[in-house]
Amino acid sequence: MKNIYIIANWKANKNTQDATSWLEQIGSSWQSESKVVILCPAFPLLHVVRDFIEEENLPLQIGSQDISKFDSGPFTGEVSGQVLKDYVTYSIIGHSERREKLGESDEDAAQKVTQANKNGLKPVFCVQNAMTPIPYSIELVAYEPVFAIGTNSPDTPENAESIARQIKEKNPNVKYVIYGGSVTPENVHSFTSKDQIDGVLVGTKSLDPVTFSEIITNS
Ligand code: PGA
Repeated sequence: MKNIYIIANWKANKNTQDATSWLEQIGSSWQSESKVVILCPAFPLLHVVRDFIEEENLPLQIGSQDISKFDSGPFTGEVSGQVLKDYVTYSIIGHSERREKLGESDEDAAQKVTQANKNGLKPVFCVQNAMTPIPYSIELVAYEPVFAIGTNSPDTPENAESIARQIKEKNPNVKYVIYGGSVTPENVHSFTSKDQIDGVLVGTKSLDPVTFSEIITNS
């Protein structure tokens, strides 16, 4: 059975209280070795999320939504890999919201990958189509077409699979391609059942713990 990655990207949502309440409700009903469930909260929530997951022994991994392109040092406001490695295993890099709204370039994303690698973090490298350059070391890619993010208008599973195949063909180190953009409990299986699609990156529908656990169950 293939591994399925299911990633919750909370974006700039939830405070400490909301995060704790979500964790209390998420439970662990999916406990299954083949489902790798990764929670990506905002930076200040990492501490409380990590401690809760450890104490309750929840089958969740933690990822950051970003990582600094800089090493540790005089970079006010940045969160470096050296800080993150105490909290996270994964790091989302190059999300289209950062590229579009915060001016992040392919070069920035590549530098972030260098920092993730240096600190032993696994990048979840986001691409918007099969043409986005992918750094050589990347194993896990999230294909997230901009038109599908937060729009209730997902890509078709057939097109997503075709893009996933192209990405794997062009980038021999890429082992897993997941799909992101308007994933719901109703449509998740149509993506994860495709041979070339290894999971989903979920934004809006990850915010409610009941909906997100339905996505895990149905995936
Ligand atoms: P969405 O976001 O599920 O709200 O479309 C996906 C993402 O941006 O990761």
